[in-house]
Amino acid sequence: MARQRCVFEPQLYDEAGLCDNCRSMKPAVLVTRRIYPEAVEYLKQRAEVDYVDSDDGLTADELLRRIRGKQAVVSQLTDKFPPAVIDKLEGVCVIANVAVGFDNIDPAAATRRKILVTNTPDVLTDTTADFAFALLMAAARRVVEGHQFVHSGQWNKWRIDLLVGQDVHHRTLGIFGMGRIGQAVARRGRGFHMRILYSDAVRAPEGVERELHAEFVSADRLLRESDYISVHVPLLPETRKMISADQFRLMKPTAIFVNTSRGAVVDEAALADALEKRVIAGAGIDVFENEPTVHPKLLKLENVVLAPHIASASVDTRKKMSMVAAENAIAALEGRRPPNLLNPEAWTGA
Ligand code: DGY
Repeated sequence: MARQRCVFEPQLYDEAGLCDNCRSMKPAVLVTRRIYPEAVEYLKQRAEVDYVDSDDGLTADELLRRIRGKQAVVSQLTDKFPPAVIDKLEGVCVIANVAVGFDNIDPAAATRRKILVTNTPDVLTDTTADFAFALLMAAARRVVEGHQFVHSGQWNKWRIDLLVGQDVHHRTLGIFGMGRIGQAVARRGRGFHMRILYSDAVRAPEGVERELHAEFVSADRLLRESDYISVHVPLLPETRKMISADQFRLMKPTAIFVNTSRGAVVDEAALADALEKRVIAGAGIDVFENEPTVHPKLLKLENVVLAPHIASASVDTRKKMSMVAAENAIAALEGRRPPNLLNPEAWTGA
């Protein structure tokens, strides 16, 4: 079994995951906000747990104060770990994020301090893809407008062109980012007999392209030819605002744009503008630049379906995400390599 240095320094763990000093001590974990109870129980059986049983989140100062004396943090995307915070973490050996995205943590700074960083991939792939497709369908077929129309008592007669939308089947789906979630969205598109185009920094393996009948194209070609555009890239310096006014201008006037990745990948003001001026036909948006604040223009538009960052929010998936993060944290504390380690350079175990 791989062994890591004891979090209490400097001995190595024994086979049971304990060193001479801490054989009688349990490591301490901070859980920064509410997660599913089974994950808290799992942590409590293996560590001293400081559980922030609330959805309010900690301020940067509170976060640093509560972390003091802990060896692990189970964090969420609202907890910010820039280099300035990471440099103040004493004795922390792992930050286990309850999300696949980890743009709230600076992995390079963590690596410098030999702090392991983990995320929760795989368990949310299909759930997130389902929701991206739900937004696509809702925007294309005007589901929310239909609901509001009936609910508000406006439906009083049949009309041949009442709330007519756009077909999804047999249209072209353009996917930015052909990772796990992008592929799962493509698979759904294939179910609707869609033509699949994708653009990414790295071309997908041949087997993936063959299975999904996906064509690797330039970003410009994807923007020009797609009827539906769905974004599945991580937020990185090079993807920040990658969809901006220029990109909306390249899209078809009938295009529908979907974002379930990170808000800052899109210039939200440019999106609102493109929707208002009908540069594109519609959008389905789950993530925003300054959550939970939404660009005021978007709130007034009828051609956008808005959701509060819930693409991975099924009961099963959110439970699994909580458990995976807890397991990653405990693995690190016990000197085992965490299953979802993002910065292997920080791993000093065998
Ligand atoms: C993630 O996992 O990164 C999502 O945005 C939240 O589930």
